[in-house]
Amino acid sequence: MARITAGVGTSHVPLIARAIDTDKTQEPAWKPIIDGYEFSRKWIEREKPDVVILVYNDHGVAFDMSLIPTFVIGAGESFKPADEGYGPRQIPDVIGCPDLAWHIAQSVIEDDFDITIANELDVDHGLTAPLSMMFGKRGVNDSWPCMVIPVAVNVIVYPTPSGRRCYELGKAIGRAVAAFDQDLNVQVWGTGGMSHQLQGARAGLINQEWDQNFLARLADNPEEVADISRLEYVTEAGSEGIELIMWLIMRGALPQRVKELHRFYHVPASNTAVGHIVLDAKAD
Ligand code: DHB
Ligand code: FE
Repeated sequence: MARITAGVGTSHVPLIARAIDTDKTQEPAWKPIIDGYEFSRKWIEREKPDVVILVYNDHGVAFDMSLIPTFVIGAGESFKPADEGYGPRQIPDVIGCPDLAWHIAQSVIEDDFDITIANELDVDHGLTAPLSMMFGKRGVNDSWPCMVIPVAVNVIVYPTPSGRRCYELGKAIGRAVAAFDQDLNVQVWGTGGMSHQLQGARAGLINQEWDQNFLARLADNPEEVADISRLEYVTEAGSEGIELIMWLIMRGALPQRVKELHRFYHVPASNTAVGHIVLDAKAD
């Protein structure tokens, strides 16, 4: 049977990926951030997940105002890095896991989560920056060390789903994986955040106290975190801070009791607070 062994929460700031791609990781702006992921890079080398279900948001690249799906699952054989304006990143294509993706789609739709199935999907920094942060630099002729099932969430155009809805979808994904009849080590990653606002009168907003509180409660008090309202995300964590609802899909997919293995928080990266957490599904 497939089993979810761990969850990872991480920001997906594109400039961190850019620093990795251009060998700037030892520069003063980036070194503390890269160092904050050192534990996780070593940990995941030992864990060797077969599949990562990677929850992220597209930033107006694969989806725009012409099509705004709330939840999407990528069921293709592979996914190309998207061109976000400067040409695609020179990194490997992402290899999917269609059998498990279709199984999850069937199972969560049976559970009344009407997710959209995408067989073709270019993946932007929301998905590819975390891969670089967790697995390190890869060139276009390398490969990523595991299969990836993209799960895209609309956090760009209102109305977005609620944190509670994301948490419940995570639980449905957890049930789906547990019922999949292949022996796979599966991780779920939630990406985005932490507090940031990239435009408008409050551009540059960072709320360290609120972020730290979110991180502190995620492992042991997920129900409380799931109750954070959309208004609170936007008011306290900025218009893009609502990306954090995607961490709740990760948390929902894990058991009630988890063990926090690693937590990291740093300000700033680009215009953003960076947060990262690693949760082990085996609590004891
Ligand atoms: C930036 C973009 C993001 O999508 C994000 O989540 C954080 C920061 C940026 O452009 O700096
Ligand atoms: Fe983002």
